[in-house]
Amino acid sequence: MDKKIKKIKLTGVDIEITPIGLGVAQFSGGSGGIAGRYWPKMPRDTMDQIVKIAIDGGINWFDTAEAYGNGASEENLAKALKANNIKDEDVIIADKWWPVFKFAKSIRRTIDRRLKYLDGFSIDIYQIHQPYSISSTKSQMDAMADLVENGKIRSVGVSNFSVKKMERAYDTLKDRGLQLVSNEVKYNLLERKIESNGLLEKAKELGIKIIAWSPLEQGVLTGKYHKDANLRKNLSFLRKHLYAFSSKKLERSRPLMNALEEIAATHEVKPSEVALNWLINFEKNQGNVLVIPGASKIHHIEQNLGAMYFELTKDEMQQIDELSERYK
Ligand SMILES: NC(=O)c1ccc[n+]([C@@H]2O[C@H](COP(=O)([O-])OP(=O)(O)OC[C@H]3O[C@@H](n4cnc5c(N)ncnc54)[C@H](OP(=O)(O)O)[C@@H]3O)[C@@H](O)[C@H]2O)c1
Repeated sequence: MDKKIKKIKLTGVDIEITPIGLGVAQFSGGSGGIAGRYWPKMPRDTMDQIVKIAIDGGINWFDTAEAYGNGASEENLAKALKANNIKDEDVIIADKWWPVFKFAKSIRRTIDRRLKYLDGFSIDIYQIHQPYSISSTKSQMDAMADLVENGKIRSVGVSNFSVKKMERAYDTLKDRGLQLVSNEVKYNLLERKIESNGLLEKAKELGIKIIAWSPLEQGVLTGKYHKDANLRKNLSFLRKHLYAFSSKKLERSRPLMNALEEIAATHEVKPSEVALNWLINFEKNQGNVLVIPGASKIHHIEQNLGAMYFELTKDEMQQIDELSERYK
């Protein structure tokens, strides 16, 4: 596999990341709290292996959060990186502060706990996880800017922010001489709202990268639930009731899934790789959209990272576009 991938430079900071990062919410499995109950517990060795395969396959960054098991995902990520002799300077870590029912001052108060869980790894991108803090966006961004100035984090992002809130965050940081680097939002072939509500366009205009979470619609876009709906029974209680897994939704997306399967076979890759490739390369997305597929099994990461190593033809891109548009 050619390991030379064109990295994407984040605006205004000296950070370059691969179009695919690894989402490690799954590393919180079994740790308690909502996220810990959402994902099953993962063996230590599996997490170590997943990180190894990601790094060997060219991926240079990881997405974690306070909310993923209240430190469990951060801690398990750090352990897996250390188990593979990865140094802080070799990886980029995106972390997130949890704002719900909290004031902005919690950003300054909790940062050392985040760094403690990361055990020597730096936070390169620190994001506000949700737009629901008690404090204003301005207060939150001022607190984040203080962390940059104090050398606690390298850059600032947001997650699940609307166009208006994203612009407000951007303006506040600009006044402090900083760039808002990212907005992490749900974006996949079955969820393309950001293309029509102005978010994708505005983010591009302001140099803010879109980090697409659930880029495989939690596994639906691998086709495994289309092939065997019984697999849903194995999902956690919270997850199996998601609308995405309903029989109705699966039937509606079957034509798209069939096309992904066919195109994947042509390129000798997996449908998940076609779905990820499309997201990072579709028209205006190239260089602006990054994806963070999660993995709970070794074969997931093995199958997904190949998305960076092949090209879809224009016709294939268009066919996928049309079928996924029809799904809406
Ligand atoms: N900012 C936010 O608000 C937010 C919200 C959600 C997620 N995130 C981040 O985004 C990351 C990814 O999102 P996500 O985990 O919700 O969704 P996802 O990446 O669309 O789906 C990941 C799940 O899909 C299945 N999967 C992945 N690759 C597969 C393959 N090749 N073959 C078969 N199954 C495969 C696995 O499910 P099973 O484990 O069931 O096998 C895996 O856990 C998270 O890890 C987290 O870092 C951020």
